Amino acid sequence: MTQDELKALVGQAALAEVVPGTVVGVGTGSTVNCFIDALATMKDQIAGAVSSSVKSTERLQAHGIRVLDANEVESIPVYIDGADEIDHHGNMIKGGGAALTREKIVADLAQRFVCIADASKLVDALGRFPLPVEVIPMAAAQVARRFGQAYGGDARVREGVVTDNGNLLLDVRGLSITDPAAMEAEVNQWPGVVTVGVFARHKARVCLLGTPEGVKTLRF
Ligand code: A5P
Repeated sequence: MTQDELKALVGQAALAEVVPGTVVGVGTGSTVNCFIDALATMKDQIAGAVSSSVKSTERLQAHGIRVLDANEVESIPVYIDGADEIDHHGNMIKGGGAALTREKIVADLAQRFVCIADASKLVDALGRFPLPVEVIPMAAAQVARRFGQAYGGDARVREGVVTDNGNLLLDVRGLSITDPAAMEAEVNQWPGVVTVGVFARHKARVCLLGTPEGVKTLRF
């Protein structure tokens, strides 16, 4: 099976996680695009969606799915999103698609994070994928230096990218993330950091992993 077929498989499988009659949290990325297309088949059974990016909003609306502002909802049962890496505890690196801040906001509204991913995303330790960090533009160089000092990481501004929130993204290479929760808590304190792409506090509770043998369900 190709990677695209595995993404389609988990996108379809995620429909079983949707709670009928409620608002669904929707992430961003190529795997989530498969989920959105599948969700269109049950659009009359849900109360709408809260979206984590302009791109996902456009795709949802193109299917006729109502998109609510995050401020209109207090809590949602489930948030469905992909990941760039996920470890065996449900910790993730996210933000390859530049949507990490809104993704963390919608994840925070949700009672349960369901990660959908193809098998290539499962890792023993986070950090091979460059860690995305959204920063206020005037702090980019300072935050980049601090990554070098604190973690030995090589942080570079992602060229030509401005986030949906008008900020810059750093991609940090050369990290070995041994304690994701500690790193997330620490980097969140640095002035100018909007969101670090480590999702440990908002980790996945379930991962639907697309493998050549079918969908494996991992629970954390
Ligand atoms: C978007 O900012 C990311 O967090 C995505 O969830 C992540 O990059 C996974 O994307 P793909 O499903 O396209 O691999």
